[in-house]
Amino acid sequence: MKARIGIIGTGWVGTSVAFSTLLAGHARELWLYDQRGAVAEGEALDMADGAAFYPRCQVSAVPLAQMREADIVVLAAGRNGRPDESRLDLLRDNARIAAGLGRSLAGFGGIVIVVTNPVDVLTRVVTAASGLPPERVIGTGTLLDSARLRERLAMHLSVSPQSVHAQVVGEHGDSSVMLWSSAHVGGVPLRVWPGWPVDEEPTVAGHVRRAAYDVIQRKGATNHAIGLVTTELIGCIVNDERRLLPVSRVQTGACGVRGVALSLPALVGSSGAAQVLEPAMDDAEAQALAASAAVLDGAFKSLAG
Ligand code: LAC
Repeated sequence: MKARIGIIGTGWVGTSVAFSTLLAGHARELWLYDQRGAVAEGEALDMADGAAFYPRCQVSAVPLAQMREADIVVLAAGRNGRPDESRLDLLRDNARIAAGLGRSLAGFGGIVIVVTNPVDVLTRVVTAASGLPPERVIGTGTLLDSARLRERLAMHLSVSPQSVHAQVVGEHGDSSVMLWSSAHVGGVPLRVWPGWPVDEEPTVAGHVRRAAYDVIQRKGATNHAIGLVTTELIGCIVNDERRLLPVSRVQTGACGVRGVALSLPALVGSSGAAQVLEPAMDDAEAQALAASAAVLDGAFKSLAG
């Protein structure tokens, strides 16, 4: 199955999402929109010139209103984070943009993927502004943090990241929660893996939380990894894969979280992130998740002030 995929915002992140989605072959038509119209047109022309090198797809710049006809719309509009700024610091500027786009998607029949930061709060903003059901407004959330954690653990243990099963839940940001107690490598709990230094866990967690800052400090933005992550999510929806992915959505009671958007593992398929699962957590992890939910709730409520 191939879909009509729309991308709103063709900056660093939107174009990376567009390009990796083209290469992956998930789109039958790829529509780009940016408020700087000429930029979206230029990106579409440039990508279309490479059509001989990716699975058949028509790329074009379209008016915003056409996005309502897409199967999946990716929201990547907003400004970048600065090196000294947390994802939550971006909130005011990007929430205004996200609310406007959310309103323009009221009654939309497809799935919205929110990528712009702070992704969790904006997922809640878009859900509220669009009135769409929470399973159809998905934030990329901690899918990227989980990939970073798996990669880091794989390096420590000298195994492939694909054999490392470890999840990050909660905020995509400073209050993210690494689920060490359930992490395993090929069925062997990480905490009994020979030579795993449990006292290294805070260092690894720090690396995962700092990863985006390290990139932004050097090149001004992160785009490649988040582009790949978003394409993975798109593929899961387009092919109705029903894979369990840690993604953000407004939660309706799982793990005691209600009304706040944050990441928990959800079954992702053609109807969105419909079923949220409750991962095993020890007391410290459950407390950290509740704290993360409180941070995100406070950030959302600060918008009203
Ligand atoms: C990152 C940005 C996308 O973590 O938040 O790379």
